[in-house]
Amino acid sequence: MVSATDIAFQSALDPDDASTFDLGSVLPEVKGLGGLLDIEYDWDRVEVPSSLKEFEKRWSTRRHPLDFSGVWRFRELLPFAPPEQIVTIGEGQTILQQNDYSGRYAGMDSGQLYLQYEGMNPSGSFKDNGMTAASTHARMVGAKFAACASTGNTSASLAIYASVSRLFKTIVFVGSGKIALGKLAQALDYDAKTIQILGDFDDALKQVRAVCQEGSIYLCNSVNPFRLEGQKAIMYRVLEGLGWEVPDWIVVPGGNLGNSSAFGKAFMELKQLGLIDRVPRLAVINAEGSNTLNRLWQQGLRWNDGRPDENLIGQFYGEMDAEDRRAYTLATAIQIGRPVNLYKCLRALEVCDGLVTEVTDQEILDAKAIIGAGGFGCEPASAASVAGVKRLRREGTIAPSDRVVCILTGHELKDPDATVAYHSSDAEKFATQSKFSNVTEFPHANAPTQVENDFGKIMQLIDAL
Ligand code: F0G
Repeated sequence: MVSATDIAFQSALDPDDASTFDLGSVLPEVKGLGGLLDIEYDWDRVEVPSSLKEFEKRWSTRRHPLDFSGVWRFRELLPFAPPEQIVTIGEGQTILQQNDYSGRYAGMDSGQLYLQYEGMNPSGSFKDNGMTAASTHARMVGAKFAACASTGNTSASLAIYASVSRLFKTIVFVGSGKIALGKLAQALDYDAKTIQILGDFDDALKQVRAVCQEGSIYLCNSVNPFRLEGQKAIMYRVLEGLGWEVPDWIVVPGGNLGNSSAFGKAFMELKQLGLIDRVPRLAVINAEGSNTLNRLWQQGLRWNDGRPDENLIGQFYGEMDAEDRRAYTLATAIQIGRPVNLYKCLRALEVCDGLVTEVTDQEILDAKAIIGAGGFGCEPASAASVAGVKRLRREGTIAPSDRVVCILTGHELKDPDATVAYHSSDAEKFATQSKFSNVTEFPHANAPTQVENDFGKIMQLIDAL
């Protein structure tokens, strides 16, 4: 492989801004299109395998840490890092599985719904795919401190990479009372300096961006374009799980829109490299109370060749601020009002002939119970994907015979409170957690049954099953 510093450069997303930066730059600030940087490669200088199937050979050499990693065994497709600088903790050992139990619930034909279970990553969410790449770049630029704002999973992921690699110290910013207990526990346990801001994720992200601009702290939110390079690998593994066939749909929850943006870039590049002959359609699912993307999408916002209607966005955020409108959903991972990757997500939706929709918290929690009963525990945000398929099936957008892949973004143990509250039909608990959530029905609840400490009574109970 050609040395990475020769072959990669980063540039702004904005087609009107030709600024480019070399790999040694520490995330320079750019104006235009959300201040987003994009990674571009000179593919003519990369030795990309002639077929995706070639990557399978890495399975036979999986004792080598880079071949073991579910991200770096595709390293020719994210060729920015010299191999000796790569920070990996064995991320991406995740699986794609058909799941008819969830498929039937969503209205799909047998065998057509797949779940990509990203909860099996070392820190329990898909974030590790991106954090291995961001940590690698942090190492390449010699960062001593790294920081992020988080609804909980990014912070858990950054904290685990810092604690395993010992390369840098970590500061995580979380909204006070806004993250699920399991995720807060991880940041504390992995020894990250944890700052609880009296505000929500949007406030925390604004602060951490300012802090990182000010000092020599490396920013690890998905505004960091290297994060998204790593997250492209989720799509490579999905294709691998399907024997390198392209599915009809990828369905993913939308929060800060890093995943959807990364997926679109993955397919854009694979098509450009001639490694696939078509791209799947992309469906991004917002929660009803946290639906900036969907509202803008329904108002007609599109990528428009890199010139989306910025006035429409400005007006939307202006109104949001004037009314002090905040995001509210029980799916706390996607409780985000100002998604930083909005522009890149619009590009992804364009590349993948995508669409956006939203689902209620009730739909999310019902779908989550079904996913769990089908053997795949996930946190509420992840279940938005299956709830989204159900909705898109009902509306006739997805056909029952389509091949659909839902991304289960986070492990069920991230947010056990939500699971126990649902199965205990605890409407009050949900109501106190989010003032906009009206989860009042629990059709798939599996409540624990109390019984006296008495053998006879226990047997009576079992006989009645
Ligand atoms: N699902 C889970 C479990 C998440 O943690 C997140 C984002 C998303 C979906 C949304 O993904 O931002 O790529 O659209 N969590 C971030 C965090 C914001 O801080 O952990 P996205």
